[in-house]
Amino acid sequence: MCGIVGMLGQNEVAPILLESLRRLEYRGYDSAGIATLRDGKLQRRRAVGKLSELSDLLVRNPIQGLSGIGHTRWATHGPATLENSHPHQSRSVAVVHNGIVENHLELRAQLSALQIEHKTETDTESITLLCQYHLEQGLAHAEAALKTVRSLRGAFALAFLFEGEEDCLIVARQGSPLVIGHGQSETYVTSDSIALTGLTDRITYLQDGDFACLSRRKISIFNCGGEEVSRPLERRNIDSASTDKGGHKHFMSKEIYEQPKILAAAIERYETSGGMAELRPAVEMVSSCRRLELVGCGTAHFACQVAGYWFEWLAGIPVSTTVASEFSCRKQAFDEQTLGIFVSQSGETADTLSALRHMKNAGCGTLSLLNVTSSTMARESDVSLPIHAGVEIGVASTKAFTCQLLALANLVLAVAERRRYADQDRISRLRKEFRRLPALTSAALAADDGIKSIAGELGKFVSVLFIGRGAMYPLALEGALKLKEISYIHAEGLASGELKHGTLALVDDKMPVVVLAPQDQLYAKSLSSSEEVKARRGKIILVSDTTGPTGIWRTVPLPSVDPVFAPILYAIPMQLLAYHTAVHLGTDVDQPRNLAKSVTVE
Ligand code: AGP
Repeated sequence: MCGIVGMLGQNEVAPILLESLRRLEYRGYDSAGIATLRDGKLQRRRAVGKLSELSDLLVRNPIQGLSGIGHTRWATHGPATLENSHPHQSRSVAVVHNGIVENHLELRAQLSALQIEHKTETDTESITLLCQYHLEQGLAHAEAALKTVRSLRGAFALAFLFEGEEDCLIVARQGSPLVIGHGQSETYVTSDSIALTGLTDRITYLQDGDFACLSRRKISIFNCGGEEVSRPLERRNIDSASTDKGGHKHFMSKEIYEQPKILAAAIERYETSGGMAELRPAVEMVSSCRRLELVGCGTAHFACQVAGYWFEWLAGIPVSTTVASEFSCRKQAFDEQTLGIFVSQSGETADTLSALRHMKNAGCGTLSLLNVTSSTMARESDVSLPIHAGVEIGVASTKAFTCQLLALANLVLAVAERRRYADQDRISRLRKEFRRLPALTSAALAADDGIKSIAGELGKFVSVLFIGRGAMYPLALEGALKLKEISYIHAEGLASGELKHGTLALVDDKMPVVVLAPQDQLYAKSLSSSEEVKARRGKIILVSDTTGPTGIWRTVPLPSVDPVFAPILYAIPMQLLAYHTAVHLGTDVDQPRNLAKSVTVE
């Protein structure tokens, strides 16, 4: 997703803007730019590609000024070209934007009727042209910006910089997050507080509909009704440690390897009185509902699918899991007895947010499991549970996934203990196994060297299948997503039993098939699926706590674990296989092409 930053500083802002944009790189982008005010005049530098391109440009052709805005663009309207990159400027106003202006074609037509023509394909240019038009109609800069914002529909976080206004930033938030940073005698604005690392830990989150006039000494915030409001001043522990690689080559590697520690800390937190108090409202909601609807996107959706099995197996609650982007296509018979559970690392994913609002409007309870606890989803859910994964920078979700599963497992166990549906001895044995998970994931990481050698060969293939049964089926989907999203090798996850219903036609001696098969009651069936592959000379990579039959191309040995929690453990080799394959192929592991960390557009 795009990232925006704005600063009213006491020193040259260009280098600070660049450093802040670097901290937003994880969001994914394909061009970047900054604009500053020098002697009241706008200056702008933009570059396509990575921030290093912009940085080199600034060395060759620097810009000065103590006020400025910056942007990393993830293309939505118009390709990644120089003229489409932000900041957009129209004579005396420059704008940076994260989101989508849904009525931009309407605005384009209105401006064209005024003989005001666009030069780019972007929706953002309509914002600058419209604001400039209002300025030329005699409106003051704040009124011109407000009138412009009021004519927009869609999702946007905006920052306006005006010529002649060295101590002013006008910002607006509708659907895309925006945070104000309070410096000693500086003021900042950004899409994500991580960009303020090293600058300030005093922040204020704007809410949807807010419009704010910022200066170095004063911040005036107005709600959608135009009343001046105050929003809470919060402190964020934005420590640099959470935003550096800790000696790893990539953030993704660091985040894979820190999972045992993170999971252990989360379990410890869950077992404190504070953690149990935090969980109680969620247990109440789940225990008293008639049906669960679990909703997420991508990896978070797969976490929902795993949890769907758990809620059915251990708590006897009927469950439906829906990928959020398909949610509005279904006419589901929700009633207030249906509880919506929304899983999201960022808490800003537009598809998941839209599903949450849909269920809320239908009178359903809404429970979210989130990593970013200050996110929009946290504010809009009836109850929100943190997953305690810590800052996750890599676009590919790793520790967030295992922490989502851990938080869901903790919730399911508590509900199972409350509803007494399953045998309570079994539940207490599972609670003990739950506490072993950090040690087990640490043991799973020991398979790294073997996985690295498999990855060295995997890069030669053009497609890879992942198959699994039961709760291993969503893990097959996750393994395929991990591999394709960072190595760009096509991969497909499917239920093992489905292989013979068509996909088997793809299997020959050039098709690696990753078989996820913990020794559980489905193991025999998983092996028969792998026999089907072997009979077609497919290259089986068996991920299991057993050695499996003869004729296996490669094995990934894992420790034994109660089959209920196998999904958490088997996520580790899926992450490592994707990571090492991508490193071997030289792709951009932390910021894979075309992708964003948080997809805040539908
Ligand atoms: C996971 O590796 C992907 N980056 C992506 O599928 C992600 O899980 C999805 O976009 C949902 O994001 P969220 O958890 O922030 O809602």
